[in-house]
Amino acid sequence: MTEPGAPRASHVFSRAIGRELPIADHAEGAWIVDAAGRRYLDAAGGAIVIGIGHGDAGVVEALAAQERRIAYAHGTAFTSEALEAYADELAPLLPVDEPRIYPVSGGSEAVETALKMARAYHLARGEASRHKVIARRASYHGNTVGALDASGREALRRPYAPWLGRALHVSPAYEYRCENPDHPHGCGARLAGELERAILAEGPETVACFIAEPVSGATLGAAVPPDDYWPAVAQVCRRHGVLIIADEVMTGFGRTGRWFGVDHWDVRPDLMTLGKGTTSGYWPLGAAVASGSVYEAIAATGSFVHGFTFSHSAPGAAVARAVLRRLREGNLVEASRDKGELLRKLLVSELADHPSVGDIRGLGLMVGVELVADRATRAPLPRAERVTERVVAAARDRGLLLYSSTGCADGTNGDLVMFGPPFVISDDDLGWAAATTREALGAVGLG
Ligand SMILES: Cc1ncc(COP(=O)(O)O)c(C=O)c1O
Repeated sequence: MTEPGAPRASHVFSRAIGRELPIADHAEGAWIVDAAGRRYLDAAGGAIVIGIGHGDAGVVEALAAQERRIAYAHGTAFTSEALEAYADELAPLLPVDEPRIYPVSGGSEAVETALKMARAYHLARGEASRHKVIARRASYHGNTVGALDASGREALRRPYAPWLGRALHVSPAYEYRCENPDHPHGCGARLAGELERAILAEGPETVACFIAEPVSGATLGAAVPPDDYWPAVAQVCRRHGVLIIADEVMTGFGRTGRWFGVDHWDVRPDLMTLGKGTTSGYWPLGAAVASGSVYEAIAATGSFVHGFTFSHSAPGAAVARAVLRRLREGNLVEASRDKGELLRKLLVSELADHPSVGDIRGLGLMVGVELVADRATRAPLPRAERVTERVVAAARDRGLLLYSSTGCADGTNGDLVMFGPPFVISDDDLGWAAATTREALGAVGLG
C-alpha cells in the first residue's frame, strides 16, 4: 500500500531520475502552468525550442486540419500537399543553394541524415575513400550514436566511449577561453588553420565533411565566433573538397535574430540540419537540407540508402508551415534580435558586477551566462559544487525556467545557464527573468 503523501509509483522511465516532476498542465505565450496552478516563465523555451510561444491556436488548427485529411502515408509511396507547400515556402529562406529538404523526427535524426548524405555524395562521385567526419570539441550534435560521435561533449560521450571514436575533433571558437587571447582580429584564421592542418594530416581524400554549430549551443552557452571564423573555415573546406554541415538545430528559425545562424556571416553550407524551432515544439520535427549539387549527385545513383518510418510527415509539415507563417506574420525573427539585445542589456545591468559572473554572451534570444570562481583568472567553479544545477533549481523554485550546462571550461568543470525564451516574451518578463537570476545566484551563496 502507498503511504499517504508518498510519491505516486510511475511507469514512466523519467528524464529526471530521482526527482519528482510537476505535471505540466497548460501553457500560453512564454508561461507554463502546472497541475497545482504554479506558473513558470519558460525562459529557456524548454531546451531552446519554443520560438513562436505556447498555445498558438493557428498552429493547432493547421495540425488538426491535416490530421483530419490524412495523418500518415509512407514517404516512399506518397508525398503530400502539406510537405510540398512547406518545402516551397522554406526553400527561399534557406542559405543553401537550390535546397532539398528531407524532414525527419528531430535534431539527432537530422544530423545522422546529413552525415549519411555527405558520405553518399562522395560515393556517388567516385570518391569512396572520403568517409571521415571532422567536428569540434565542446560541441553537441545529438544523442544517437553517429551524432554523439560527432559531438565533442565529454560527459555525454563517456559511458558510450567503446562505441565511439571515428570522428575527429578540432578546437571550437570560444573567445572567452581562447588559447590566444591577444590575436588582433579574432581567432578565426588560427582556428581555420588548425582545421586545415587536421584535414591535411588525415589526407583530404579521406575527409567527407566538417560539422559545426554556427553559434555554439548548450555546451559552450551561446559562444559567438569572431566574424572571421566562418568565412575562413568555409574557404578551407572548399579548398579540400570537404562538405560543410551547418548544424542549425538550435540556431535555426530566428533563434539568433536572423533566420539561420550562418546568415550572420553570409556562409552557404552544403548541408544543414534543423530541429527544435522548426515546429516550436508543436510536433517532433527536424530536417536535413542538402544543396542542389549534393542532391543531384546522390539522385544520379538512383537511391539514398537511408530512411525512417516517420520521415516526410504530412502533419509535421503542416505544423512547420503554420509556424513559419507565424514567424513571418509576427516579425518574430526581428523580435528575437531586438529582445535578445534587451535581455543581454538587462543581464549586464543585473549581473555585470557579480563576482561569479564571468561572461554574458549570445546573439538574438540565444543567451548564455558563464559562472566562474574567479573573474580575473576565469577559473571555473569546482564541478563537485554542482553550482549550475543548484542555480537552475533555485530559479525554478521562484518560477523561472533556465537551461543549464556543465563542462565548458575543460570538459568537466565549467558552469553555464542559458536563456532561450519564446520570441513573444514581454519586456517586463525579460526584466523579471534577469532579476530573478540574480536572486537565484544569491540563494545558492554566490554574490
Ligand atoms: C546543435 C544541436 N544539434 C543536434 C541536437 C539534437 O537534437 P534532438 O535533441 O532533437 O535530437 C541538438 C539538441 O540540443 C542541438 O542543440
